[in-house]
Amino acid sequence: MSYHDDYLQSITLREIFWKKQAESISWYRFPSTILTEHPNQLYQWYEDGMVNMSYLCLDYHIEHGRGNQEALIWDSPVTGLKKRYTYNELKKEVATLAGALLELGLNTGDTAIIYMPMIPEAVIAMLACARLGITHSVVFGGFAPHELALRMNDAEPSVILSAAYGIEGKNKINYKTMVDRALTESSHSVKHRVYVARPEMDLTLDPSCEYDYHELLSKAQEAAPVALPSTHPLYILYTSGTTGTPKGIVRDTGGYAVALKYSMQAIYNIQAGDVYWAASDVGWVVGHSYIVYGPLLQGCTSILYEGKPVGTPDAGAFWRMIETYQVRTFFTAPTAIRAIRKEDSDGSFFRKYDCSHLQSIFLAGERCDPPTLTWLHDLVSKPVIDHWWQTESGWPMLAIPMGIEPKVVKPGSAGIAVCGFDISIMDEEGVMQQADKEGYVVVRLPLPPGCLPTLWKDDDRFRKEYLQQFQGYYLTGDGGYMDAEGYCFIMGRMDDVINVSGHRLSTGEMEEVLASHPAVAECAVVGVHDALRGQRPVALVVLKDVINNQQGPIDLELIQKIRDTIGAIAYLKTVYTVKRLPKTRSGKILRKTIRAMLDHIPYTIPSTIEDATVIDELKEHILI
Ligand code: COA
Ligand code: AMP
Repeated sequence: MSYHDDYLQSITLREIFWKKQAESISWYRFPSTILTEHPNQLYQWYEDGMVNMSYLCLDYHIEHGRGNQEALIWDSPVTGLKKRYTYNELKKEVATLAGALLELGLNTGDTAIIYMPMIPEAVIAMLACARLGITHSVVFGGFAPHELALRMNDAEPSVILSAAYGIEGKNKINYKTMVDRALTESSHSVKHRVYVARPEMDLTLDPSCEYDYHELLSKAQEAAPVALPSTHPLYILYTSGTTGTPKGIVRDTGGYAVALKYSMQAIYNIQAGDVYWAASDVGWVVGHSYIVYGPLLQGCTSILYEGKPVGTPDAGAFWRMIETYQVRTFFTAPTAIRAIRKEDSDGSFFRKYDCSHLQSIFLAGERCDPPTLTWLHDLVSKPVIDHWWQTESGWPMLAIPMGIEPKVVKPGSAGIAVCGFDISIMDEEGVMQQADKEGYVVVRLPLPPGCLPTLWKDDDRFRKEYLQQFQGYYLTGDGGYMDAEGYCFIMGRMDDVINVSGHRLSTGEMEEVLASHPAVAECAVVGVHDALRGQRPVALVVLKDVINNQQGPIDLELIQKIRDTIGAIAYLKTVYTVKRLPKTRSGKILRKTIRAMLDHIPYTIPSTIEDATVIDELKEHILI
């Protein structure tokens, strides 16, 4: 079938299409209902199916003769260590950790937080939780204790699985200390804490509630996978919204398994036995879907890389990995490619390695600017595909479906609609836009399998933030346009979310943190263009009068406050102290105008501005 036929069926005869896809995974009980509509625009896929993700990712392949094939390869240039796990070995570790969790008293329906660097135990912990129906929530290691505490309060975990430390540059980041700080701040007390010891740092553990991961495993029995309802929450993944309270994206089990399995074939064109590498982090959705669950569902070898695109040790790191492990599909973020290009613009490092096994490169996390895409394509002479998705969708919504019909790539576009996603562009009033006209990017309900069914314990917030603005449509939060051939161009967020080095952050949250400083009267944070990171935050703060007179290095204090509260990844480096912020007569801060001024792009001062002289003041003050 062609892409056109598949796509049409996927949105007009949804249940037939997704029933067929459901047959590609193994169920304890095949679902008799494919799609169920619940009141208030809530949908469930495969509601009465019974399934287990850990079984599908491990046991299933062993039963089908892949036990001795490599399932996971860990390569850690920051420690110099490497480790390979066959499907048999990975299953043994996963089942044993599951056994250890059972012995701690955990069971189906409990939740667990996983706060780990890029080590195999992070993957093992996810799969062990999935084996028992313990809903996991992985927290990205770059988040500060406050962020971890927020997630603890919301997810209410019975256990936290962590590690002694992670490595950033030359520094060891002490995870145990961060967990301890988060536990002090959190209102939820976590009963059990398990730590993976790492070389050269002693772990001091409280025997009443803290355990050494490997010691725990040495005493445990393997546990079998549990048959779970398809709708069972496999994980919660928190992502930035417009406020300081992150949104707990819920992922079901059956729909997600079907969607990922489908994507491995239809989008990435990758088969069992192939090597698939997503150079992301298990703390992000890409890590969940395409380091852990997608490749293992498909019977691939997946790679876990504890390193950076540059500096570990050089700009040839990615190409070394691709050569060494004969990677067939590679997935990274445009910012990583820009970092490599900056250090190796003529491709000398690339030419040291044999990357002929590579079939294609996929990019996501932020818009790929055409110069970066073209540079990479010219360098590797393989298809380079920008594709678009978000934590909420769980898998790509726009792509080039390499396994169905490898259509032409248009630089600047994130591709065409993936089967199951009925994508349109709308204006503010909900009127569909013609080709090439920019507007809100929306997806007609129901969303296909794999996407969020709701937010953790908060159906109301789910409806309010995603479904309320355009009746019958899911609001993606992105703006863009579609050309006459159906290629979509995602141009950026329409809300307070920014993308810094492929990391999704909330300017609203940064404003909340800055505003809590006793010296700050009011503030605005906007995302400005950054040549390497895509975007970076810049803050404008108005200080309280009394402080204004005795000003010290307040900018450094505020920068540190963001690092301590959100994490270094927020990358706030610029804080301007200003007298006033430009506002409308109704008091709304003109963030769009501020951003345009800082980006040196043309802007018109809105007629609703309260006092236009503020703009001149700003120009003078921040030297634009
Ligand atoms: N734990 C703790 N701190 C972390 C961290 C982690 N997991 N990840 C990043 N940080 C820290 C860094 O050490 C740095 O701290 P510093 O200000 O004290 O130096 C800060 O956060 C900013 O980090 P980063 O944005 O990663 O900058 P960098 O200069 O170290 O690296 C890139 C720049 C482009 C190489 C890097 O951002 C990168 O690889 N980006 C790709 C991200 C990606 O693949 N995302 C995929 C999403 S799909
Ligand atoms: P996250 O939820 O962290 O995956 O971030 C999702 C957001 O990243 C999207 O809503 C977009 O704003 C942005 N994004 C991801 N991929 C792309 C892409 N290929 N092109 C443009 N923006 C992207």
